[in-house]
Amino acid sequence: MAHQPLIAPSILSADFARLADESAAVGAGPSGPGADWLHVDVMDAHFVPNLTLGLPVVKALLGATEIPIDCHLMIDDPDRWAIGYAEAGAYNVTVHVEAAADPVRIAKNLRSAGAKAGLSVKPNTPLDPYLEILENYDTLLVMSVEPGFGGQAFMPEVLDKVRTARRLADTGHLKLLVEIDGGVNADTIEQAAEAGVDCFVAGSAVYGADDPALAVEKLRDQARRASGR
Ligand code: DX5
Ligand code: ZN
Repeated sequence: MAHQPLIAPSILSADFARLADESAAVGAGPSGPGADWLHVDVMDAHFVPNLTLGLPVVKALLGATEIPIDCHLMIDDPDRWAIGYAEAGAYNVTVHVEAAADPVRIAKNLRSAGAKAGLSVKPNTPLDPYLEILENYDTLLVMSVEPGFGGQAFMPEVLDKVRTARRLADTGHLKLLVEIDGGVNADTIEQAAEAGVDCFVAGSAVYGADDPALAVEKLRDQARRASGR
């Protein structure tokens, strides 16, 4: 964990009618360097009981911001759909292991298309069965709420999975960033940082704040202090 904590605001909590402005609202400015990644939640109303946006909107966002786009695909059949997000230029594309038929192949395809490959596990999905395939991935997204909606309460019990991945990364067995998503805010970010998270997704804690850019800097400072970096 040589780098400083990464903060990825989730636009799920932003105003969808003003996405370009909302991405600019967490960019670099007087309060600091801004968001490291912009987290985009793609939901298909099948894998999760909510519908958000898809590839055309991601393409529009890619043209509207310099912030690397972190696509979180909460969709069925990522074997078919994930590659399009990588080819469009997303920085990181995360698929759910519960939905993927061939997660190793997906990762290889995402990397060949020039993106980082991410694997996500829902709160009740164990990590152990997938440790072998994680060498194909660049990021592990540990869900700390049931996927589908912003503004839910953080589930601290998922931090055991973070600790496992952290240990494997620190001992050189895996080379990946550990990302956490769901309920991350000023009250919960420190325990996640202590467990070894590298990248913190925050939706309502950033876009619900009066000053989203300042909220990003505050969260990063808190994570940095708690992780001792
Ligand atoms: C939930 C999404 C999250 C969501 C987080 O399924 O994956 O990215 O935006 O929102 P908060 O930070 O409000 O829990
Ligand atoms: Zn997400």
